[in-house]
Amino acid sequence: MALPKRVTLCEMGPRDGLQNETRLVSTDDKIAYIDLLSQTGLTEIEVTSFVNPKAIPQLADAAEVFARIERRPGVRYPVLVPNIKGYQRARAAGADAIAVFTAASEEFTRRNINMTIQESLETFRDVVIAAKRDGVHVRGYISTAFGSPFGDEITPHTVTQLARELMTMGCDELSIGDTIGVGVPNQVEEIAAPLLREFGSEAVALHFHDTRGTALANIYAALQLGVHRFDSSAGGLGGCPYAPGATGNVGTEDVLYMLHTMGIHTGIDLAKIRAASRFIASRLGHPIESRVYTALEAANA
Ligand code: COA
Ligand code: ZN
Repeated sequence: MALPKRVTLCEMGPRDGLQNETRLVSTDDKIAYIDLLSQTGLTEIEVTSFVNPKAIPQLADAAEVFARIERRPGVRYPVLVPNIKGYQRARAAGADAIAVFTAASEEFTRRNINMTIQESLETFRDVVIAAKRDGVHVRGYISTAFGSPFGDEITPHTVTQLARELMTMGCDELSIGDTIGVGVPNQVEEIAAPLLREFGSEAVALHFHDTRGTALANIYAALQLGVHRFDSSAGGLGGCPYAPGATGNVGTEDVLYMLHTMGIHTGIDLAKIRAASRFIASRLGHPIESRVYTALEAANA
């Protein structure tokens, strides 16, 4: 199959990225970071989470961040919502796109959101029904789809079943996550091909963490299947505090470098992403993981 000519990236830095940072980033800095990302040509930026602030203290300022960012026309700004309370908070702050999140691992789901997978589906059904009534766009995450941090077995069938549940309740798109970065390319085909057949490529995004260095190989495998929607994080920030050993998302710079050099368009300016990463790096107190970011900085290019 010919590779897609154009790819859409959903930027994870402000949410999946910052949620894993121990040093608290000020609200003003988060807003400045998101505003920089809004100027890069990105069309989807996940801004924050309306979860229990005790679960993710870094994102306790979600309402203020959301209310004060500059929302560019043509850019979607989803926020993570775990339940109806989060939905109401998100709507009160002005959100018109949300993401709900379940997982293929029972143990991860329990630790992450204190629910069984079945309970999470019931919780999200109410959220998605409310969102559809309100004209809110909904993405549905399936985390740990490529492997569980707790050793429970994950099969492509489990992922397909969950995807059906999420799409049937009204999600507009799915994001299938390799939360702990264990996935390999043949697995991408096993997991993504049935989803593409059933829901079409507009409805399927893939979300890779680069913990074991397989994220770009997985993206290439996915491109060959016709996947043209991916999540990535500026600078390669990210991880989940509830998934031991999880490191960052694949770096937006790394994905852009590969895609652009292959002649695949994104509409996103790599130099501007790098500027946003450089800004947030100065606030985090540790080096940035993206290979391409690091290479460009070293070359002073
Ligand atoms: N926003 C703010 N506060 C919330 C909330 C929300 N969306 N949902 C629940 N809370 C508060 C409740 O009001 C309650 O507060 P209290 O302690 O002051 O009474 C407290 O959280 C516990 O509520 P409960 O309904 O019993 O939730 P829980 O303890 O079973 O936790 C979640 C469930 C989903 C709220 C929590 O696990 C969570 O927020 N997880 C998110 C984890 C995450 O973001 N992971 C990273 C993404 S991969
Ligand atoms: Zn993630």
